[in-house]
Amino acid sequence: NELVFSGVQPTGNLHLGNYLGAIKRFVEMQNRDAQCLYCVVDMHAITLWQDPQALRGQIREVTAAFLAAGIDPRRSIVFNQSQVPAHAELAWIFNCVARIGWLNRMTQFKDKAGKDRENASVGLYAYPVLMAADILAYRATHVPVGEDQKQHLELTRDIAQKFNTDFAGSIMAHGHGEDGFFPVTEPLIGGPAARVMSLRDGAKKMSKSDASDNSRINLTDDQDLIAQKVRKAKTDPDPLPSEAEGLKGRPEADNLVGIYAALAETTREAVLAQYGGAQFSAFKGALVDLAVEKLSPINAEMKRLTADPGHIDAVLADGAARAEAIAAPTLDAVKDIVGFVRRT
Ligand code: TYM
Repeated sequence: NELVFSGVQPTGNLHLGNYLGAIKRFVEMQNRDAQCLYCVVDMHAITLWQDPQALRGQIREVTAAFLAAGIDPRRSIVFNQSQVPAHAELAWIFNCVARIGWLNRMTQFKDKAGKDRENASVGLYAYPVLMAADILAYRATHVPVGEDQKQHLELTRDIAQKFNTDFAGSIMAHGHGEDGFFPVTEPLIGGPAARVMSLRDGAKKMSKSDASDNSRINLTDDQDLIAQKVRKAKTDPDPLPSEAEGLKGRPEADNLVGIYAALAETTREAVLAQYGGAQFSAFKGALVDLAVEKLSPINAEMKRLTADPGHIDAVLADGAARAEAIAAPTLDAVKDIVGFVRRT
């Protein structure tokens, strides 16, 4: 049985990378009729301090982005992490399965903790373990994410496998099959926008935390701002190549062509077949038109939805109840497997 899970942090500034690398692909998975759970990971967000009032707004804004992008909360389960206690409970058990050496290799922790590592929160360090719990509380088989999450998904696989071997006897004794209790989840990383880069620097990924707002297109940007940012985007002086091979060593050109391809739901090759030989001024004009065409309806719908927080909160409450109904029996089974005495 296919079960899709993915999460997005409510840390402000949802951008084109989040949309093309993740949210747009969530909608595609839903439309392929898989059971999908899409989670606003508020517990991950507080690994770096968040202003409480702002956090509430950001949780509702990510939810609004999911819905505006085309996630149907009746078909998919849309919820925020902190409403389903199974995530935190399973994370603790996984903290006792994962090894310190595994976490020490996580590059995102090194990036986010910076130089003052001693002063980073314990939560920031344990972050990937909570992520494994998010996924495995539902025994999800497929996880659509951008490329930056690849290492975390490998850790999720390691945790699932170690749990399955550490508790193999107990897993069998409780009537679960030879294959172990947790599936070894498949990451779904792909498409032309698995790693959208900064508009100011083709060597840096587009990120919520970049100091320059011109480095990213936010889902809340209006069409004038989108046009301005695309026109200012860094490029090189040469016209576009006519084949994808010609994008090698031209990171900024590669990025803009990739963004165009993802928005148009095509490939870099097809975009270059049309625009090969064009100057950037012309290509950027076409990219502005396409980006505005695709993003303005989402932007307008997000505005409409965030004006009614009561509706968003009702969607999240309904999603949490449905998510809990899937996760709770998994957690019960895990507690039995680990050897906890249960209330009868
Ligand atoms: P987050 O909130 O940083 O990003 C949400 C999603 O957007 C993708 N993404 C990008 N894709 C392409 N280009 C970019 N420049 C870019 N920037 C971000 C991310 O890869 C992600 O898919 N740890 C996760 C959230 C999470 C999660 C999970 C994901 C928590 N639990 C369980 C999957 C399954 C994160 O911080 O994503």
